[in-house]
Amino acid sequence: MTTDSYLGYSDRLHRLASDLSAKPWPVSRGEVQSALNGQAAEQLRVLVPRTVRRAEGAFFTGSHVRARFEELLEDATAFWDPACGAGDLLLAAAGKQDLGASMRDTLDLWGKTLRGGDLQPSFVRTARLRLFLLAAARHKERGDPIDVDVASGLELLKGIRVADAYSDLEKTRSYSGTLLLNPPFGSVQAPADCSWAGGSVSQAAVISLMSASKIGLGQQFVAILPDVLRSGSRYARWRSSIESIIDLRSVNLYGQFDDHTDVDVFLLAGRRRRQRHVREPSALWWPQRTSASTIEDIFKVSVGTVVDNRDPHAGPKLPFLIARDLGDLKEIQAPDRTRQFAGRTFKPPFVAIRRTSRPGLRSGGNARAAGTLVTGTQDIAVDNHIIVMKSQSGSVDECNQLIDVLSSPKTSAWLDNRIRCRHLTVGVVRSIPWSPKAARDEDSVAQELSVDY
Ligand SMILES: C[S@@+](CC[C@H](N)C(=O)[O-])C[C@H]1O[C@@H](n2cnc3c(N)ncnc32)[C@H](O)[C@@H]1O
Repeated sequence: MTTDSYLGYSDRLHRLASDLSAKPWPVSRGEVQSALNGQAAEQLRVLVPRTVRRAEGAFFTGSHVRARFEELLEDATAFWDPACGAGDLLLAAAGKQDLGASMRDTLDLWGKTLRGGDLQPSFVRTARLRLFLLAAARHKERGDPIDVDVASGLELLKGIRVADAYSDLEKTRSYSGTLLLNPPFGSVQAPADCSWAGGSVSQAAVISLMSASKIGLGQQFVAILPDVLRSGSRYARWRSSIESIIDLRSVNLYGQFDDHTDVDVFLLAGRRRRQRHVREPSALWWPQRTSASTIEDIFKVSVGTVVDNRDPHAGPKLPFLIARDLGDLKEIQAPDRTRQFAGRTFKPPFVAIRRTSRPGLRSGGNARAAGTLVTGTQDIAVDNHIIVMKSQSGSVDECNQLIDVLSSPKTSAWLDNRIRCRHLTVGVVRSIPWSPKAARDEDSVAQELSVDY
């Protein structure tokens, strides 16, 4: 798919850059600052259809994430973004680079120290133009004239070019500089020699691991990545692989990438080290255990077993529980809906929660993992969009305690740190700290407060 429609934006930047020497700086300053900040991402949404953006994995880093990214960057002599888009991460790096004696000198220097690649010619042209504009802005603020025309300036920035990240990385043995990354997030088939997963995987996982393995010892790696890599059980081996080559310095949760992109991201920073075996995941990936026991010590946690559109309607006719039945209810009886099902069923009492879940409170104000007690005497077939927690002792009291724990602010905060994807996993639910007393105390504090106010 093509992003040629984005060339219109790069033409506009070209005119802006060409006019700089003729116009007084205060007249151009505002427009240049917009071009260096959120405008490239905004124009991407205006000019390139969503289907194309998704297919190409094109989501540019906006000013806010970029500021957080910039804080992580340490001084280095060179920087490379192998999937550079309109150059936002390179702009973050260039903002830290020294200026030359003149603007031409600066561009000459940046041409040697900044490297970027992208499949889309329109993005590469935009990235070069924005770096030209950044150099111009910094020199103008210093009171320097613009001593280089746009064509020559862009020519100097030859390190930013149309390139495929995979083949560029493949060819690299040991990059001496900082690797910057906000890769495409879509899915790809895991490469044949992939040691950490098979089948369809996040492209961000493949490119990040490949990139991390191509930098020289001691070099910095800073990446913006989808939260599923940090929190998903499917990516546990990816995490060990990254840690085996990168000495992690920080794993910072960020939240939703931007107002238009419904995916939570985190920022990872570390330095390349000699490969070594990792026994335990770093404490940086998520908050560590805060209580002696977790939900799995008391409950058996499993996913509902019915895949409704796939499983045959055969076997005994049973009450059939689906996520919609749970609503915001604290307790329900076995549903009237029935279905024939020959697989594994669940005997009440048990607590059910929806698997789909996003960080923060639900729209009705309920906790993210608020649970419902399911009672009744008959075995129930449970849809696979539900997670079932069954007390090992069969106690209803424990189920009620679990409901308090699940709806407590402490559990919500813990979950929001632990997993920011749009679903909960059995592994994460099992590891929720089990502290029913603390949940009760929080509840009574909340009640006291509501009385006082
Ligand atoms: C999520 S965007 C991020 C762009 C930029 N790094 C940023 O932070 O704004 C990912 C970029 O990767 C590019 N891309 C996708 N597949 C690529 C590949 N195989 N090689 C190089 N770039 C690729 C897309 O065109 C897109 O510009």
